[in-house]
Amino acid sequence: MLNNNHKNVLLLENIHPNASSIYQNESFKVKTMDSGLSEDELCEQIQGVSILGIRSKTRITKKVIKSADKLLAIGAYCIGTNQIDLKCCSDNGIVVFNAPFSNTRSVVELAFGEIIMLIRGVFEKSYQLHKGAWIKSADRNFEVRGKKLGIVGYGNIGSQLSVLAEAIGMQIYFYDIDDKLVLGNARKCDTLNDLLAIADVVTIHVDGRSENKNLIGQKEFDLMKEGTVFLNLSRGFVVDIAALVKNIKSGKISGAAVDVFPKEPKGNNEKFFSELQNLPNVIITPHIGGSTEEAQKNIAEFVSNKIVDFMFKGRTTLSVNFPSLQLPEIKSAHRLIHIHQNIPGILAKINNILASNSINIVGQYLKTNEHIGYVITDICREYDREMITDIRDIPGTIRFRLLY
Ligand code: NAI
Repeated sequence: MLNNNHKNVLLLENIHPNASSIYQNESFKVKTMDSGLSEDELCEQIQGVSILGIRSKTRITKKVIKSADKLLAIGAYCIGTNQIDLKCCSDNGIVVFNAPFSNTRSVVELAFGEIIMLIRGVFEKSYQLHKGAWIKSADRNFEVRGKKLGIVGYGNIGSQLSVLAEAIGMQIYFYDIDDKLVLGNARKCDTLNDLLAIADVVTIHVDGRSENKNLIGQKEFDLMKEGTVFLNLSRGFVVDIAALVKNIKSGKISGAAVDVFPKEPKGNNEKFFSELQNLPNVIITPHIGGSTEEAQKNIAEFVSNKIVDFMFKGRTTLSVNFPSLQLPEIKSAHRLIHIHQNIPGILAKINNILASNSINIVGQYLKTNEHIGYVITDICREYDREMITDIRDIPGTIRFRLLY
Protein backbone atom coordinates (compact mmCIF):
# COMPACT_ATOMS: atom_id res chain seq x y z
CA MET A 1 0.00 0.00 0.00
CA LEU A 2 1.42 3.44 -0.82
CA ASN A 3 1.53 5.31 2.44
CA ASN A 4 3.12 8.69 3.07
CA ASN A 5 6.44 6.92 3.52
CA HIS A 6 6.50 6.27 -0.18
CA LYS A 7 5.37 9.60 -1.54
CA ASN A 8 8.63 11.44 -2.22
CA VAL A 9 9.86 11.93 -5.77
CA LEU A 10 13.21 13.47 -6.70
CA LEU A 11 13.66 14.56 -10.31
CA LEU A 12 17.17 15.63 -11.40
CA GLU A 13 18.66 17.06 -14.60
CA ASN A 14 15.83 19.37 -15.61
CA ILE A 15 13.23 16.74 -16.51
CA HIS A 16 10.20 18.14 -18.41
CA PRO A 17 7.52 19.54 -16.02
CA ASN A 18 4.87 17.09 -17.29
CA ALA A 19 6.65 14.44 -15.20
CA SER A 20 6.09 16.46 -12.01
CA SER A 21 2.44 17.02 -12.96
CA ILE A 22 1.80 13.30 -13.41
CA TYR A 23 3.27 12.50 -9.98
CA GLN A 24 1.54 15.45 -8.29
CA ASN A 25 -1.79 14.34 -9.73
CA GLU A 26 -1.23 11.07 -7.86
CA SER A 27 -0.46 12.98 -4.63
CA PHE A 28 3.31 12.49 -4.68
CA LYS A 29 5.56 15.23 -3.27
CA VAL A 30 7.99 16.23 -6.00
CA LYS A 31 11.38 17.92 -5.64
CA THR A 32 13.10 18.97 -8.88
CA MET A 33 16.68 20.00 -9.63
CA ASP A 34 18.14 21.45 -12.83
CA SER A 35 21.46 19.61 -12.87
CA GLY A 36 22.80 16.18 -11.95
CA LEU A 37 24.35 15.31 -8.58
CA SER A 38 27.68 13.79 -7.65
CA GLU A 39 27.66 10.39 -5.98
CA ASP A 40 28.06 11.87 -2.48
CA GLU A 41 25.42 14.55 -3.03
CA LEU A 42 23.00 11.95 -4.32
CA CYS A 43 23.64 9.61 -1.37
CA GLU A 44 22.45 12.46 0.84
CA GLN A 45 19.53 13.65 -1.31
CA ILE A 46 18.15 10.17 -1.89
CA GLN A 47 17.14 9.72 1.75
CA GLY A 48 13.37 9.22 1.98
CA VAL A 49 12.96 9.22 -1.82
CA SER A 50 10.81 6.45 -3.38
CA ILE A 51 10.97 7.52 -7.00
CA LEU A 52 14.15 8.94 -8.52
CA GLY A 53 14.19 10.51 -11.98
CA ILE A 54 17.48 11.04 -13.79
CA ARG A 55 18.78 11.56 -17.32
CA SER A 56 22.13 10.53 -18.71
CA LYS A 57 24.46 12.47 -16.36
CA THR A 58 23.62 11.02 -12.96
CA ARG A 59 25.39 7.78 -12.08
CA ILE A 60 23.49 5.31 -9.95
CA THR A 61 26.20 3.30 -8.25
CA LYS A 62 26.11 0.60 -5.57
CA LYS A 63 26.93 3.28 -3.01
CA VAL A 64 23.90 5.35 -4.06
CA ILE A 65 21.61 2.32 -3.96
CA LYS A 66 22.90 1.29 -0.53
CA SER A 67 22.22 4.81 0.73
CA ALA A 68 18.62 4.73 -0.48
CA ASP A 69 16.26 3.80 2.33
CA LYS A 70 12.90 3.98 0.53
CA LEU A 71 13.72 3.72 -3.17
CA LEU A 72 11.26 1.61 -5.22
CA ALA A 73 11.68 2.93 -8.75
CA ILE A 74 14.16 4.80 -10.94
CA GLY A 75 13.04 6.61 -14.06
CA ALA A 76 15.77 7.07 -16.66
CA TYR A 77 14.26 9.98 -18.60
CA CYS A 78 16.43 9.13 -21.61
CA ILE A 79 17.25 6.05 -23.67
CA GLY A 80 20.51 4.69 -22.29
CA THR A 81 20.70 3.05 -18.87
CA ASN A 82 24.38 2.18 -18.56
CA GLN A 83 24.76 5.04 -16.08
CA ILE A 84 22.75 2.81 -13.71
CA ASP A 85 24.02 -0.30 -11.90
CA LEU A 86 21.02 -2.36 -13.04
CA LYS A 87 22.09 -5.59 -11.34
CA CYS A 88 22.37 -3.84 -8.00
CA CYS A 89 18.93 -2.25 -8.57
CA SER A 90 17.42 -5.69 -9.27
CA ASP A 91 19.13 -7.23 -6.25
CA ASN A 92 17.53 -4.53 -4.13
CA GLY A 93 14.08 -4.79 -5.70
CA ILE A 94 14.29 -1.40 -7.43
CA VAL A 95 12.58 -1.28 -10.81
CA VAL A 96 14.07 0.84 -13.61
CA PHE A 97 12.15 2.29 -16.55
CA ASN A 98 13.50 4.27 -19.50
CA ALA A 99 12.06 5.81 -22.65
CA PRO A 100 13.43 3.63 -25.44
CA PHE A 101 11.81 5.44 -28.37
CA SER A 102 10.31 8.74 -27.21
CA ASN A 103 13.06 10.87 -28.76
CA THR A 104 14.01 8.70 -31.72
CA ARG A 105 12.55 11.08 -34.29
CA SER A 106 14.36 14.08 -32.78
CA VAL A 107 17.77 12.41 -33.08
CA VAL A 108 17.02 11.29 -36.62
CA GLU A 109 16.04 14.81 -37.71
CA LEU A 110 19.20 16.33 -36.23
CA ALA A 111 21.42 13.68 -37.80
CA PHE A 112 19.80 14.13 -41.17
CA GLY A 113 19.96 17.92 -41.04
CA GLU A 114 23.64 17.68 -40.15
CA ILE A 115 24.39 15.32 -43.01
CA ILE A 116 23.08 17.91 -45.47
CA MET A 117 24.89 20.79 -43.74
CA LEU A 118 28.19 18.89 -43.72
CA ILE A 119 28.04 17.64 -47.29
CA ARG A 120 27.35 21.22 -48.42
CA GLY A 121 30.01 22.73 -46.11
CA VAL A 122 27.36 25.10 -44.81
CA PHE A 123 28.84 25.64 -41.34
CA GLU A 124 32.25 26.44 -42.76
CA LYS A 125 30.82 28.93 -45.26
CA SER A 126 28.57 30.51 -42.65
CA TYR A 127 31.50 30.84 -40.22
CA GLN A 128 33.58 32.57 -42.87
CA LEU A 129 30.73 34.86 -43.89
CA HIS A 130 30.20 35.93 -40.27
CA LYS A 131 33.80 37.10 -40.45
CA GLY A 132 33.10 38.95 -43.72
CA ALA A 133 34.59 36.42 -46.19
CA TRP A 134 32.32 35.94 -49.24
CA ILE A 135 33.31 32.49 -50.60
CA LYS A 136 30.81 31.75 -53.35
CA SER A 137 32.05 28.43 -54.65
CA ALA A 138 30.71 24.98 -55.46
CA ASP A 139 34.07 23.38 -54.77
CA ARG A 140 33.66 20.21 -52.63
CA ASN A 141 29.97 20.98 -51.99
CA PHE A 142 27.66 18.10 -52.83
CA GLU A 143 24.02 17.04 -52.83
CA VAL A 144 23.07 14.12 -50.61
CA ARG A 145 21.11 12.55 -53.45
CA GLY A 146 22.73 9.31 -54.60
CA LYS A 147 25.36 9.35 -51.83
CA LYS A 148 25.98 6.23 -49.76
CA LEU A 149 24.90 6.53 -46.12
CA GLY A 150 26.51 3.95 -43.80
CA ILE A 151 24.52 3.47 -40.61
CA VAL A 152 26.30 1.63 -37.79
CA GLY A 153 23.63 0.32 -35.39
CA TYR A 154 20.25 -0.32 -37.03
CA GLY A 155 18.06 0.03 -33.94
CA ASN A 156 15.27 2.54 -33.31
CA ILE A 157 17.28 5.54 -34.49
CA GLY A 158 19.39 3.90 -37.19
CA SER A 159 16.41 2.28 -38.89
CA GLN A 160 14.29 5.44 -38.82
CA LEU A 161 17.17 7.45 -40.27
CA SER A 162 17.36 4.80 -42.98
CA VAL A 163 13.74 5.46 -44.00
CA LEU A 164 14.10 9.24 -43.98
CA ALA A 165 17.42 9.32 -45.85
CA GLU A 166 16.20 6.88 -48.49
CA ALA A 167 13.15 9.05 -49.09
CA ILE A 168 15.42 11.92 -50.06
CA GLY A 169 17.49 9.79 -52.42
CA MET A 170 20.43 8.42 -50.43
CA GLN A 171 21.60 4.81 -50.81
CA ILE A 172 21.48 3.11 -47.44
CA TYR A 173 24.00 0.60 -46.09
CA PHE A 174 23.89 -0.58 -42.52
CA TYR A 175 25.77 -2.80 -40.14
CA ASP A 176 24.29 -4.23 -36.93
CA ILE A 177 25.56 -7.02 -34.70
CA ASP A 178 22.01 -8.42 -34.49
CA ASP A 179 19.72 -9.61 -37.25
CA LYS A 180 17.45 -6.75 -38.23
CA LEU A 181 14.46 -6.26 -40.47
CA VAL A 182 15.82 -4.49 -43.55
CA LEU A 183 13.67 -1.45 -44.35
CA GLY A 184 13.01 -0.17 -47.85
CA ASN A 185 15.96 -0.71 -50.18
CA ALA A 186 18.60 -0.59 -47.45
CA ARG A 187 21.50 -3.00 -47.83
CA LYS A 188 22.93 -4.96 -44.94
CA CYS A 189 26.73 -5.11 -44.64
CA ASP A 190 28.22 -8.31 -43.26
CA THR A 191 30.97 -6.50 -41.39
CA LEU A 192 31.70 -3.05 -40.04
CA ASN A 193 34.75 -2.94 -42.31
CA ASP A 194 32.56 -3.48 -45.40
CA LEU A 195 30.39 -0.55 -44.39
CA LEU A 196 33.31 1.76 -43.65
CA ALA A 197 34.86 1.03 -47.02
CA ILE A 198 31.74 1.85 -49.04
CA ALA A 199 30.04 4.77 -47.26
CA ASP A 200 30.32 8.47 -48.17
CA VAL A 201 28.73 9.31 -44.82
CA VAL A 202 29.27 7.16 -41.71
CA THR A 203 26.85 7.70 -38.85
CA ILE A 204 27.04 5.90 -35.53
CA HIS A 205 23.87 4.83 -33.70
CA VAL A 206 25.00 1.89 -31.56
CA ASP A 207 23.89 1.44 -27.97
CA GLY A 208 25.97 2.10 -24.89
CA ARG A 209 27.21 -1.42 -24.10
CA SER A 210 30.75 -1.35 -22.71
CA GLU A 211 32.18 -3.37 -25.65
CA ASN A 212 31.46 -0.36 -27.85
CA LYS A 213 34.20 1.72 -26.19
CA ASN A 214 36.39 3.11 -28.99
CA LEU A 215 34.43 1.17 -31.62
CA ILE A 216 35.68 3.79 -34.06
CA GLY A 217 39.41 4.49 -33.77
CA GLN A 218 42.37 5.03 -36.10
CA LYS A 219 42.04 1.55 -37.61
CA GLU A 220 38.43 2.27 -38.60
CA PHE A 221 39.21 5.76 -39.96
CA ASP A 222 41.94 4.15 -42.09
CA LEU A 223 39.26 1.99 -43.73
CA MET A 224 37.02 4.93 -44.66
CA LYS A 225 37.06 6.68 -48.01
CA GLU A 226 38.95 9.94 -48.49
CA GLY A 227 36.61 12.84 -47.61
CA THR A 228 34.09 10.81 -45.61
CA VAL A 229 31.55 12.71 -43.55
CA PHE A 230 31.34 11.30 -40.02
CA LEU A 231 28.64 11.62 -37.35
CA ASN A 232 28.33 10.36 -33.81
CA LEU A 233 25.09 11.06 -31.97
CA SER A 234 25.16 7.86 -29.91
CA ARG A 235 27.55 7.71 -26.94
CA GLY A 236 30.75 9.68 -26.39
CA PHE A 237 33.01 6.75 -25.53
CA VAL A 238 32.22 4.97 -28.80
CA VAL A 239 34.66 7.16 -30.77
CA ASP A 240 38.35 7.76 -30.10
CA ILE A 241 38.27 11.56 -30.21
CA ALA A 242 42.04 11.97 -30.71
CA ALA A 243 41.85 9.74 -33.80
CA LEU A 244 38.84 11.66 -35.12
CA VAL A 245 40.62 14.99 -34.68
CA LYS A 246 43.72 13.64 -36.44
CA ASN A 247 41.60 12.54 -39.41
CA ILE A 248 39.71 15.83 -39.61
CA LYS A 249 43.00 17.72 -39.63
CA SER A 250 44.41 15.50 -42.38
CA GLY A 251 41.25 15.98 -44.50
CA LYS A 252 40.42 12.28 -44.53
CA ILE A 253 37.23 13.25 -42.72
CA SER A 254 35.81 16.19 -44.63
CA GLY A 255 33.20 17.07 -42.05
CA ALA A 256 31.97 15.77 -38.72
CA ALA A 257 29.03 16.20 -36.39
CA VAL A 258 29.46 15.14 -32.79
CA ASP A 259 26.72 15.46 -30.20
CA VAL A 260 28.10 13.21 -27.45
CA PHE A 261 31.50 13.28 -25.77
CA PRO A 262 33.55 11.02 -23.50
CA LYS A 263 33.47 13.74 -20.84
CA GLU A 264 30.48 16.04 -20.72
CA PRO A 265 29.72 18.83 -18.26
CA LYS A 266 27.25 17.96 -15.49
CA GLY A 267 25.15 21.05 -16.15
CA ASN A 268 24.90 24.25 -18.15
CA ASN A 269 27.16 26.15 -15.71
CA GLU A 270 30.17 23.91 -16.25
CA LYS A 271 32.57 24.85 -19.06
CA PHE A 272 33.16 22.42 -21.93
CA PHE A 273 36.55 21.61 -23.40
CA SER A 274 37.31 19.30 -26.33
CA GLU A 275 39.95 18.82 -28.98
CA LEU A 276 37.07 19.05 -31.45
CA GLN A 277 36.55 22.73 -30.77
CA ASN A 278 37.48 25.27 -33.47
CA LEU A 279 37.98 22.77 -36.27
CA PRO A 280 36.64 23.57 -39.77
CA ASN A 281 33.42 21.90 -40.94
CA VAL A 282 32.82 20.31 -37.54
CA ILE A 283 29.45 20.68 -35.89
CA ILE A 284 29.59 20.09 -32.15
CA THR A 285 26.41 20.18 -30.13
CA PRO A 286 25.88 19.76 -26.37
CA HIS A 287 24.17 16.31 -26.36
CA ILE A 288 20.93 17.72 -27.77
CA GLY A 289 20.05 14.93 -30.21
CA GLY A 290 16.98 14.05 -28.19
CA SER A 291 16.42 17.53 -26.85
CA THR A 292 13.29 18.82 -28.49
CA GLU A 293 10.20 20.03 -26.72
CA GLU A 294 8.28 17.13 -28.28
CA ALA A 295 10.75 14.48 -27.19
CA GLN A 296 11.16 15.80 -23.66
CA LYS A 297 7.39 15.88 -23.20
CA ASN A 298 7.01 12.36 -24.66
CA ILE A 299 9.76 11.02 -22.40
CA ALA A 300 8.39 12.73 -19.29
CA GLU A 301 4.95 11.26 -19.86
CA PHE A 302 6.10 7.80 -20.96
CA VAL A 303 8.44 7.14 -18.02
CA SER A 304 6.23 8.75 -15.35
CA ASN A 305 3.16 6.81 -16.48
CA LYS A 306 5.14 3.56 -16.42
CA ILE A 307 6.30 4.28 -12.86
CA VAL A 308 2.84 5.28 -11.65
CA ASP A 309 1.49 2.04 -13.14
CA PHE A 310 4.17 0.12 -11.29
CA MET A 311 3.55 1.90 -7.99
CA PHE A 312 -0.22 1.40 -8.01
CA LYS A 313 -0.75 -1.73 -10.11
CA GLY A 314 2.59 -3.53 -10.05
CA ARG A 315 2.93 -3.44 -13.85
CA THR A 316 6.47 -3.83 -15.14
CA THR A 317 5.85 -3.79 -18.91
CA LEU A 318 8.92 -2.40 -20.74
CA SER A 319 10.94 -2.21 -17.52
CA VAL A 320 14.68 -2.37 -18.11
CA ASN A 321 15.57 -4.76 -15.29
CA PHE A 322 12.37 -6.48 -14.09
CA PRO A 323 10.52 -9.32 -15.83
CA SER A 324 7.74 -7.78 -17.90
CA LEU A 325 4.45 -8.51 -16.17
CA GLN A 326 0.94 -7.18 -15.98
CA LEU A 327 -2.32 -8.60 -14.68
CA PRO A 328 -5.74 -7.10 -15.35
CA GLU A 329 -7.22 -5.36 -12.33
CA ILE A 330 -9.68 -7.49 -10.41
CA LYS A 331 -12.33 -5.55 -8.53
CA SER A 332 -12.57 -6.12 -4.77
CA ALA A 333 -9.31 -8.09 -4.69
CA HIS A 334 -6.09 -7.29 -2.85
CA ARG A 335 -2.88 -7.27 -4.85
CA LEU A 336 0.38 -8.60 -3.41
CA ILE A 337 3.73 -7.98 -5.06
CA HIS A 338 6.66 -10.25 -4.27
CA ILE A 339 10.16 -9.64 -5.62
CA HIS A 340 12.67 -12.39 -4.91
CA GLN A 341 16.00 -13.84 -5.91
CA ASN A 342 15.59 -16.20 -8.84
CA ILE A 343 15.75 -19.46 -6.87
CA PRO A 344 13.35 -22.42 -7.18
CA GLY A 345 10.38 -22.98 -4.91
CA ILE A 346 9.44 -19.44 -3.86
CA LEU A 347 6.03 -19.44 -5.56
CA ALA A 348 5.15 -22.70 -3.78
CA LYS A 349 6.13 -21.15 -0.46
CA ILE A 350 3.97 -18.07 -1.05
CA ASN A 351 1.02 -20.25 -2.02
CA ASN A 352 1.48 -22.56 0.98
CA ILE A 353 1.27 -19.57 3.28
CA LEU A 354 -1.86 -18.32 1.52
CA ALA A 355 -3.44 -21.80 1.64
CA SER A 356 -2.70 -22.28 5.31
CA ASN A 357 -4.49 -18.98 5.94
CA SER A 358 -7.46 -20.22 3.85
CA ILE A 359 -6.91 -17.47 1.33
CA ASN A 360 -8.11 -18.07 -2.19
CA ILE A 361 -6.01 -16.80 -5.08
CA VAL A 362 -8.06 -15.09 -7.78
CA GLY A 363 -5.19 -14.25 -10.08
CA GLN A 364 -1.48 -14.92 -10.05
CA TYR A 365 1.47 -14.56 -12.38
CA LEU A 366 5.16 -15.27 -11.92
CA LYS A 367 7.92 -14.23 -14.26
CA THR A 368 11.65 -14.46 -13.80
CA ASN A 369 14.74 -13.08 -15.45
CA GLU A 370 18.34 -14.10 -14.81
CA HIS A 371 18.47 -12.19 -11.51
CA ILE A 372 15.02 -11.97 -9.96
CA GLY A 373 11.54 -13.41 -9.84
CA TYR A 374 8.48 -11.18 -9.78
CA VAL A 375 5.06 -12.42 -8.66
CA ILE A 376 1.76 -10.59 -8.72
CA THR A 377 -0.92 -12.32 -6.66
CA ASP A 378 -4.53 -11.15 -6.33
CA ILE A 379 -6.41 -12.50 -3.33
CA CYS A 380 -10.07 -12.08 -2.54
CA ARG A 381 -10.22 -11.70 1.19
CA GLU A 382 -8.78 -9.82 4.12
CA TYR A 383 -5.37 -10.93 5.29
CA ASP A 384 -3.80 -10.59 8.68
CA ARG A 385 -0.45 -9.09 9.62
CA GLU A 386 1.03 -12.43 10.57
CA MET A 387 0.51 -13.78 7.08
CA ILE A 388 2.26 -10.73 5.65
CA THR A 389 5.20 -11.27 8.00
CA ASP A 390 5.39 -14.94 6.97
CA ILE A 391 5.59 -13.99 3.28
CA ARG A 392 8.19 -11.31 3.98
CA ASP A 393 10.24 -13.89 5.87
CA ILE A 394 10.45 -16.38 2.98
CA PRO A 395 14.19 -16.85 2.36
CA GLY A 396 15.20 -15.13 -0.89
CA THR A 397 12.60 -12.36 -0.57
CA ILE A 398 13.95 -9.03 -1.81
CA ARG A 399 10.85 -6.94 -1.34
CA PHE A 400 7.18 -7.48 -0.61
CA ARG A 401 4.43 -4.89 -1.07
CA LEU A 402 0.67 -4.76 -0.67
CA LEU A 403 -0.64 -2.55 -3.44
CA TYR A 404 -4.32 -2.39 -2.53
P1 NAI B 1 18.71 0.77 -30.02
O1 NAI B 1 19.06 -0.06 -28.85
O2 NAI B 1 17.32 0.72 -30.57
O3 NAI B 1 19.72 0.46 -31.22
C1 NAI B 1 21.08 0.24 -31.07
C2 NAI B 1 21.49 -0.76 -32.12
O4 NAI B 1 22.90 -0.84 -32.16
C3 NAI B 1 20.97 -2.16 -31.87
O5 NAI B 1 20.30 -2.63 -33.01
C4 NAI B 1 22.24 -2.97 -31.58
O6 NAI B 1 22.13 -4.31 -32.00
C5 NAI B 1 23.24 -2.20 -32.38
N1 NAI B 1 24.64 -2.37 -31.97
C6 NAI B 1 25.16 -2.37 -30.72
N2 NAI B 1 26.48 -2.48 -30.76
C7 NAI B 1 26.82 -2.54 -32.08
C8 NAI B 1 28.05 -2.64 -32.77
N3 NAI B 1 29.20 -2.70 -32.12
N4 NAI B 1 28.01 -2.68 -34.10
C9 NAI B 1 26.83 -2.62 -34.78
N5 NAI B 1 25.64 -2.53 -34.19
C10 NAI B 1 25.63 -2.47 -32.85
O7 NAI B 1 19.10 2.26 -29.61
P2 NAI B 1 18.56 3.60 -30.26
O8 NAI B 1 17.32 4.00 -29.60
O9 NAI B 1 18.56 3.48 -31.72
O10 NAI B 1 19.74 4.60 -29.79
C11 NAI B 1 21.03 4.52 -30.38
C12 NAI B 1 22.03 5.34 -29.60
O11 NAI B 1 21.66 6.72 -29.58
C13 NAI B 1 22.17 4.94 -28.13
O12 NAI B 1 23.52 4.89 -27.80
C14 NAI B 1 21.52 6.07 -27.38
O13 NAI B 1 22.05 6.25 -26.10
C15 NAI B 1 21.83 7.26 -28.28
N6 NAI B 1 20.93 8.40 -28.13
C16 NAI B 1 21.49 9.65 -28.16
C17 NAI B 1 20.70 10.76 -28.01
C18 NAI B 1 21.29 12.12 -28.07
O14 NAI B 1 20.75 13.03 -27.48
N7 NAI B 1 22.36 12.31 -28.81
C19 NAI B 1 19.27 10.65 -27.76
C20 NAI B 1 18.78 9.30 -27.87
C21 NAI B 1 19.60 8.23 -28.01
